Amino acid sequence: MNRKYRKTLIAGNWKMNKTPSETKAFMTELKAMLPKGRWCDIALCVPSVCIPAAVRALRDTRVGVGAENVNANASGAYTGEVSTSMLVDAGCKYVIIGHSERRAMGETDADVNAKTLAALEAGLVPIVCCGESLEQRESGITEEWISMQIKLALANIGEDKIRKVVIAYEPIWAIGTGKTATPEQAEEVCQHIRGVVRKLFGSKNARAMTIVYGGSMNDKNAFELLAQPDIDGGLIGGASLVAEKFVKIIEDANQPTA
Ligand code: 13P
Repeated sequence: MNRKYRKTLIAGNWKMNKTPSETKAFMTELKAMLPKGRWCDIALCVPSVCIPAAVRALRDTRVGVGAENVNANASGAYTGEVSTSMLVDAGCKYVIIGHSERRAMGETDADVNAKTLAALEAGLVPIVCCGESLEQRESGITEEWISMQIKLALANIGEDKIRKVVIAYEPIWAIGTGKTATPEQAEEVCQHIRGVVRKLFGSKNARAMTIVYGGSMNDKNAFELLAQPDIDGGLIGGASLVAEKFVKIIEDANQPTA
């Protein structure tokens, strides 16, 4: 983390877990446990049907609600999809874009770019995901792959909007596997991402960009990961489903840094 230059963000990604009733119960539990003092930014990205319950429960807190996906089109014949204006109207502040689980369902880099542009236009904070597979890591092309994903995801974003983007580095081999990247491995790629952003948008924007790590981050390993200079937070799956674990990660992010 580097709080002098950029925001720290601890975001949960619930994926396809919890019903609206369970969301209400979880938020009530979470609210009672949230640290009182210093705060990093906190978000919970939940299934679409849980957004109203989450927004209602978190209304009087500083926890932002996010969606896990969005359609880039403004409106129309897209059965089953949800637009940016719907998310904004429902009270969302964040949206996850390009998660590897969605890319595996056919989402392309062009889709990720279109969704990112649409989210920024609507005033949402896009949490744009990138990450390599185990095969790509083992064949030594991680940095090249990530550069390409970032360049395509951030194409045509104006200088005035780039600082709103959060990038999440999520190595696919670490997601849901319990196999976390070491702090050094995660730092290496997050630093590389900042370098790519520097080339594209200049050093001030790169220095101000929040880049988070995701992939089996939990209450046991968050502190060490967050101690890395280029890791400005976490995108947390499994551990965000358990209030005590999620709160412990927030507490770790609130620790003073050197
Ligand atoms: P896990 O924390 O369950 O590995 O999931 C990470 C992730 O995909 C967050 O978006």
